[in-house]
Amino acid sequence: MMCGKAAPNIRYSVLIEDEMSDEEIKMAITKGVHEGETLDWCMPRWQMSEKDLNDVINYLKELE
Ligand code: HEM
Repeated sequence: MMCGKAAPNIRYSVLIEDEMSDEEIKMAITKGVHEGETLDWCMPRWQMSEKDLNDVINYLKELE
């Protein structure tokens, strides 16, 4: 897909297993950073409002 890599499983249950907090998920989405590491360039850096970020996280929570 796009840059030739498969996007990882980002269901909320999986991110929680990785011990990611909601704030860390937001950092990954907007800054492409997780635990001080820069995520692969393949992961887009998304510009979105706090409300949209919360909506995305709530959506991820709904996925089985
Ligand atoms: C709104 C849509 C998206 C959201 C909310 C999102 C969210 C995330 C999150 C939270 C991570 C960090 C996972 C972790 O560190 O365990 C991640 C990583 C990643 N995402 Fe996305 N993502 C989105 C769209 C995409 C798209 C469209 C692509 C590719 C075309 C993509 C490719 C990747 C890749 C390759 C990584 C792994 C980066 C690495 O391990 O260095 N993502 N994404």
